[in-house]
Amino acid sequence: MSFSQADNARQYGNVSKIAARARLHTLYTIAETGWFPWVRQQLPLVDTTSLLDVGCGPGWFWTSCGPLPGNLDLTLVDRSATMVSEAVERCAARSFRHVGGEVTDAARLSFADASFDGVIAMHMLYHVEKPLEAIREMARVLKPGGFLAVTTNGRGNMRELYELTAVLGAAPMDPSAAVFGFAEAEDTMRQVFGEVSIHKHPSRLRVTEPEDVFMAMTSYPPCEDAGEDALKAFRQAIEVAFAQGGGVIESSHERGLFLARKPL
Ligand SMILES: C[S@@+](CC[C@H](N)C(=O)[O-])C[C@H]1O[C@@H](n2cnc3c(N)ncnc32)[C@H](O)[C@@H]1O
Repeated sequence: MSFSQADNARQYGNVSKIAARARLHTLYTIAETGWFPWVRQQLPLVDTTSLLDVGCGPGWFWTSCGPLPGNLDLTLVDRSATMVSEAVERCAARSFRHVGGEVTDAARLSFADASFDGVIAMHMLYHVEKPLEAIREMARVLKPGGFLAVTTNGRGNMRELYELTAVLGAAPMDPSAAVFGFAEAEDTMRQVFGEVSIHKHPSRLRVTEPEDVFMAMTSYPPCEDAGEDALKAFRQAIEVAFAQGGGVIESSHERGLFLARKPL
């Protein structure tokens, strides 16, 4: 199975799988500024009051990104009802002016034209069948002058870890970036907005716990579907790599943010 819409319930019906991946990034990212605070620094939040987060997941961004303006009306949407309720509950604990949530598909947003000052779609467009249509939909609900911020992974993301998945018959590449990586993000946003600015998070991974690699990499397709023998071989490959690295795996990390504005 690939990154299709069909496996959304399996992936995001609860937080266990996304949490296994988040653990890898949270514990082992080496960066001057962590991912979520760095994303917030890129967002043009001055003069922004109404914000839409598409594919909000559990809403971790909003409670981990650092200081935010106090006057934000935040709308959280996701295909998964579990994610929407988690995110709304989590964000209600922060001092937003208003927090709302809705189960909505990115391809058919249930909002009127020109409803929001800003829209963000973080690490979700690789799940959408037609990302260009979803970006057009996000542009539709933006007010003139409003911004869209999209984040995704580059094709070299975690290359050293994906190389280990070769024993499972998987391509040695981040499957999300293979579907909607940096090139696709730039191209689709240019088609809709004309101009797009590209920001790459300076970071790398330094992983010290083999089990965290195993749990993260087997939390999604194609490794999620591997049989028992293949998984045993994968564990061995991870152990060998850790032994060769003196108890550590150093890995590349490619995450980026693409920012555009709707013309006035
Ligand atoms: C990798 S998570 C990202 C969560 C969050 N944006 C973040 O960066 O932490 C992807 C989220 O997109 C949601 N999603 C997938 N396809 C979607 C669609 N067509 N419309 C809305 N949400 C979708 C999933 O349910 C999941 O919560």
